[in-house]
Amino acid sequence: MKRADARPGRLEVYPDPLALGAAVAQWLTEQVERTPSPVRICLSGGGTPKALYRLLASDGFRADFPWGRVLWFWGDERFVPYDDPESNYGMARDAMLSKIPVPPDQIFPIPVDGTPAEAAERYEATLQRSYGAVTLEPSRPLFHVTLLGLGEDGHCASLLPGTPVLKERVRWAAPVTRGRPEARVTLTYPSLEASSAVAFLVTGSAKATILRQVRSGASDVPAARLNPWGELIWFADREAAGP
Ligand code: 6PG
Repeated sequence: MKRADARPGRLEVYPDPLALGAAVAQWLTEQVERTPSPVRICLSGGGTPKALYRLLASDGFRADFPWGRVLWFWGDERFVPYDDPESNYGMARDAMLSKIPVPPDQIFPIPVDGTPAEAAERYEATLQRSYGAVTLEPSRPLFHVTLLGLGEDGHCASLLPGTPVLKERVRWAAPVTRGRPEARVTLTYPSLEASSAVAFLVTGSAKATILRQVRSGASDVPAARLNPWGELIWFADREAAGP
């Protein structure tokens, strides 16, 4: 039974993770170039995007990427110190942002002090300050690009299966205090969907089944319920896309 709001989106398949990273880096550069400043980009955590972040900061891309026009946000964060190997901010900082002269006031990591609930509230306020309003206006996306990964259980960001945050349709960020060893702060469906373009980066044969299920329109896992305002693109390598 297909979901009424199911959208398969556009699938782009590349031979391997490096080729996929190069394609996404090129696509991202083009997205920023065609968007008036400031361009708000929501970064994904996890392992898959690391190759992309490294590429963007490499000699092949850094000179052409319009760094000065971009504001950097995160779709979720593990509630650990930024120097912890699990930190999504720490991963993007080490792979990319520390290698580029991006002004600190253009980088908005999710707070990891206080409690996860307080951090979520503070991050919601940060997003609203940058957006310039406390309610999302259909004519004006919160993000111009939102990068996401896909978990084998069908989660994206920290929208984990069976967690209360899946029902959150008002707050822009929320705490997730079960389902993983460490607490999380995640953006919610309203803020993640308020994007001109949502791009999933999916690599490896372990993701082939879940990718096929999510794009089939017959799945109810968290990533399948995401209904972006704008484009939905799946960047997959050959192993994840399957035969
Ligand atoms: C996180 C991510 C999470 C990730 C998926 C895929 O904080 O872990 O936001 O949603 O994107 O779990 O992770 P991999 O890219 O490591 O497979």
